Amino acid sequence: MNSSQRLKAFCAETAYGLALVGSLLAGCSESAPDQIKQPLSYHRDIAPIVDNYCGSCHSHSGIGHFSLGTFAEVSRYAPLIRGAVANGTMPPWLPSQDSRPLHGSRLLRTQDKDDLLRWIDEGMAEGNPSDPPRTDLPPKAVVTPPRADLVLDPGRNYLPDGTQNDDYHCFVFDPKLTTDRFITAGDALPGNHHIVHHIIAYEIPEAEAAAIKAKDPTGQGYTCFGSPGTMSPPVTILGWAPGGVATRYPQGTALRLHKGSLLVMQVHYNMLEGKGQADRTTMQFELTDEAPQKELHSLPVARPKQLLIPAGAADAVQTIEFPLSVLLSRFGLPSSKLTVYGHTPHMHLLGTKISTELNGAKLIDIPRWDFHWQQGYMFQSPYQASGSDTFKLECHYNNTAEHQPVVGGVKQTPRDVTWGEGTLDEMCLNYLLLSAE
Ligand code: HEC
Repeated sequence: MNSSQRLKAFCAETAYGLALVGSLLAGCSESAPDQIKQPLSYHRDIAPIVDNYCGSCHSHSGIGHFSLGTFAEVSRYAPLIRGAVANGTMPPWLPSQDSRPLHGSRLLRTQDKDDLLRWIDEGMAEGNPSDPPRTDLPPKAVVTPPRADLVLDPGRNYLPDGTQNDDYHCFVFDPKLTTDRFITAGDALPGNHHIVHHIIAYEIPEAEAAAIKAKDPTGQGYTCFGSPGTMSPPVTILGWAPGGVATRYPQGTALRLHKGSLLVMQVHYNMLEGKGQADRTTMQFELTDEAPQKELHSLPVARPKQLLIPAGAADAVQTIEFPLSVLLSRFGLPSSKLTVYGHTPHMHLLGTKISTELNGAKLIDIPRWDFHWQQGYMFQSPYQASGSDTFKLECHYNNTAEHQPVVGGVKQTPRDVTWGEGTLDEMCLNYLLLSAE
């Protein structure tokens, strides 16, 4: 046994005794000869990583402000890339690895993150454009776009209110349905990527249709921070956030669109970079008349009256914990057998962390909340539950002077904050997308 073989054997033997030999093991990764890493090249190693994890936004038509499609572009932005990737702000993806596996995850695998950083640190070798690109990256989620059976299109440009940094605008549509129909897929098509930050479609039940129409006397839409302003909890049909792709519900499932309902498309315009720019965002849905095997329901979990975030609190917490039967009976659903396909957690600007659990096991874990990157999350495989299972939603907030939102250029002073739809109110909310038998 030569010395490097001895070192390898030592390293293999002690790998399970990390705590005892921590300092010795540091030598293992540095000196073991088979651990010496090949230098990385742009064309072989880095272009595929950047295309996979960054390309959907950092293209010439994307929302990422600059394109990362060539060696010159990636090396020019390398110092910024290093910072943003190392601290986890890019690619934007809030759920941690502790979450149940999610569709469309943008989370950088550790080895891909390490390679990107190492390539920058090594001095950014270009390599040869004819080098075959690596093929060991996770596949991108591909969704067949919906048929355009129902299109939400305001029919004209909307010019957001440039005096606010955030303009939430609700466009009202009447699909004039005389029978119930079922949504199997949908997509949002943002018009102006520079200003559209998120898009949500809500179903407004017939009983509230007149009240919503009254908010929109001119037919140009109305301002609607947080939610469309219904009396009952708003029913979300589909959401889109930057980088989002079309949604297709699992085979055999669909969401019911009730006859007489209106649809509201809420567009959040972020005007920091795009004052004076207009937008025409549309959505489209694939519909069927056939009832699915499993009808989907989007149920909100919240306790609005109990939410209190005291002024100055560094870590105010609201925990909502209950057997799922409580939620199901409130919405008149049976509770023997549930299948849960996705979650949509939601807070406003003071939120710092949010998580959901079933019987103590993590489902979604967002350790660093960011209001501007929220979306609905679909599980790679749905989970089963019954009414007796305990569901928990936990929301954390920082209401100290340092963590106040800036409104109209003015940093707010802490005040007691409760539930509400205003910019400076808060929420602790999660939608469950489920079917019940
Ligand atoms: C889902 C869309 C999206 C993806 C995917 C994405 N970015 Fe970004 N990126 C943005 C947006 C939008 C901004 C502008 C800042 C903001 O709004 O947060 C940005 C900003 C940046 C910045 C500037 C940050 C700063 O401090 O000014 C860098 C660097 C960056 N992205 C690198 C990357 C890299 C590298 C990847 C892939 C590993 C990536 N991004 C993936 C949307 C995206």
